[in-house]
Amino acid sequence: MKYNIACIPGDGIGPEIVREAVRVLDTVAEKYGHEFKYTELLLGGASIDAYGVPLTDETVEKAKAADAVLMGSIGGDAKTSPWYRLEPSKRPEAGLLGIRKALGLFANLRPAVLYKELAAACPLKEELTEGGFDIMIMRELTGGLYFGERKTYVENGIRCAVDTLTYNENEIRRIAVKAFEIAKKRRGIVTSVDKANVLDSSRLWRSVVDEVAADYPEVSLSHMLVDNCAMQLVRDPKQFDVILTENMFGDILSDEASMVTGSIGMLASASLNDTSFGLYEPSHGSAPDIAGMNKANPIATILSASMMLRFSLDLGREADSVDNAVKKVLEDGYRTGDIMSEGCTALSTDEMGKKISEKIL
Ligand code: IPM
Ligand code: MG
Repeated sequence: MKYNIACIPGDGIGPEIVREAVRVLDTVAEKYGHEFKYTELLLGGASIDAYGVPLTDETVEKAKAADAVLMGSIGGDAKTSPWYRLEPSKRPEAGLLGIRKALGLFANLRPAVLYKELAAACPLKEELTEGGFDIMIMRELTGGLYFGERKTYVENGIRCAVDTLTYNENEIRRIAVKAFEIAKKRRGIVTSVDKANVLDSSRLWRSVVDEVAADYPEVSLSHMLVDNCAMQLVRDPKQFDVILTENMFGDILSDEASMVTGSIGMLASASLNDTSFGLYEPSHGSAPDIAGMNKANPIATILSASMMLRFSLDLGREADSVDNAVKKVLEDGYRTGDIMSEGCTALSTDEMGKKISEKIL
């Protein structure tokens, strides 16, 4: 089959990690008789440098025309990069929020998995994580505080700022449905996270999630307050299967969950709309301090490409072969610097990409 993939290398380590994911995809194409055509698009800092804005209509249109989008990372060092002297709406991050909204990518899936081979990197006590854990954070991505009205103003000589957290029931329902659908294929447990003891938006969230749950008797639902969830993630991460939550809470909890795995360089993510279309990117950032040094870990991007094969292109077997290749390379003791441990063999970014490609069966 032929597929049209939009590639957004982005900023910092983005180009080098996307290159390795493309190498792996090309190997998959060759082994399984597919054809992947890539269209390279600019977003974030790279787009600012070329066009003065972090997102252009051309990028949106070409992304929409593709079967899926594979992205590296965007953004630079906020202290030193000239991008951060621009007004907030012109900075790299605004491009990312803009493309999420323009493509309707309301469902953000962020797996946080403890790899057996990397258990030593987990900062929690061994007795808390024995047997590993496998959490799927489902973060609402196009509503809430990120997209509500905001302004900064002066009143009676005092500086003020306001951000608004708005949700309507449809926005809550569609992400809840995705979460239950995904939980059905996993362990069947949804923990919906909110701040219903304080926020109206959370009370609405809770009641809509309860309504959706009625259609999924096979899935067990519980509600948890966000502050408690932050605590439970480090106290007992094994209790979680799918965590369903709004945009801002999901931003914070997904960073916490990835840190708990100890290997953020391994974690993929998918952002989906209500069709099979999606944007796939690693959970980590653009790491400008090591950009261009050929030492970044490409595995999160390679696993994002695998999620793309599975969710957008419906190529489950091919996705399995990528996941298995990554497992095999880890079992064989190959590591990039960020996950290195004693007795293992250190690889550069491109060596890791090649090693994984060799293991695609
Ligand atoms: C993320 C990032 C973005 C977000 C930033 C870069 C705008 O932190 O994808 O989690 O807050 O969504
Ligand atoms: Mg974040």
